[in-house]
Amino acid sequence: MAAPDRWHGFELIAPGTHRICVRDPDDAHYCLKFERPPHERPPAGPRERLRRRLAQRFPRFGDNAAEWRAWRRLHARFGDAIDARFARCTGLVATPHGLALRQRCVTDADGRPAPSLFALLAAPSPFDPDRLCEAVAAFERWLIEHRVPLFDLNAGNFVVAGDAAAPRLVCIDSKSLAAGKEIVPLSRLVPALMRRKIARRAERLRRRIREARASAARAP
Ligand SMILES: Nc1ncnc2c1ncn2[C@@H]1O[C@H](COP(=O)(O)OP(=O)(O)OP(=O)(O)O)[C@@H](O)[C@H]1O
Ligand SMILES: [Mg+2]
Repeated sequence: MAAPDRWHGFELIAPGTHRICVRDPDDAHYCLKFERPPHERPPAGPRERLRRRLAQRFPRFGDNAAEWRAWRRLHARFGDAIDARFARCTGLVATPHGLALRQRCVTDADGRPAPSLFALLAAPSPFDPDRLCEAVAAFERWLIEHRVPLFDLNAGNFVVAGDAAAPRLVCIDSKSLAAGKEIVPLSRLVPALMRRKIARRAERLRRRIREARASAARAP
């Protein structure tokens, strides 16, 4: 088996667009997320650029603080039952490489970090796209039923747990719940708008899954 990639000596799990996710060296059941500096991130509008700059001096403006707030709110509402849908966060920890968010590492049946839906769509996998679409629909139903305004339903924010016959999505990035992009968050305040927005984003994710299947079928 190839040696794992490393980031500052940590075992790399996956590089995200905004954060790097590594194994917690003190306990392999957990991972640590480090925020990327502004110059490593994709371009953004003025408001987001300001937030990123502030986060460098004041961690409370950062992605990790946002996700820690979001997860604590979820836990306050739903208790430990939330573990089935959102990876458990245990806090912000100081390290020689800056402040990291410590989170339960979601694993597959062999104890390896579970693949993100994004990684599954980028390469051949044993997961049937229809089953993955059903897993998206199950998550969507739960969000709507419990009125959780999670709109950032992108494939990198979910890992796929469970086996190929019955995949289950676990959200490993809930920061958008505490750092919405709208100035007047109507879609969080008006239940019908919230439902529609969740449904639109879930449908977009299912479309991505079907498109990945279609392009895999066309590949030589
Ligand atoms: N708790 C976890 N268990 C297993 N893998 C994880 C976990 N958290 C993150 N990952 C992996 O790290 C990747 C990036 O994580 P995350 O979404 O938290 O960072 P990000 O910077 O917000 O990324 P992006 O902007 O690309 O969504 C995920 O797609 C996933 O592969
Ligand atoms: Mg993310």
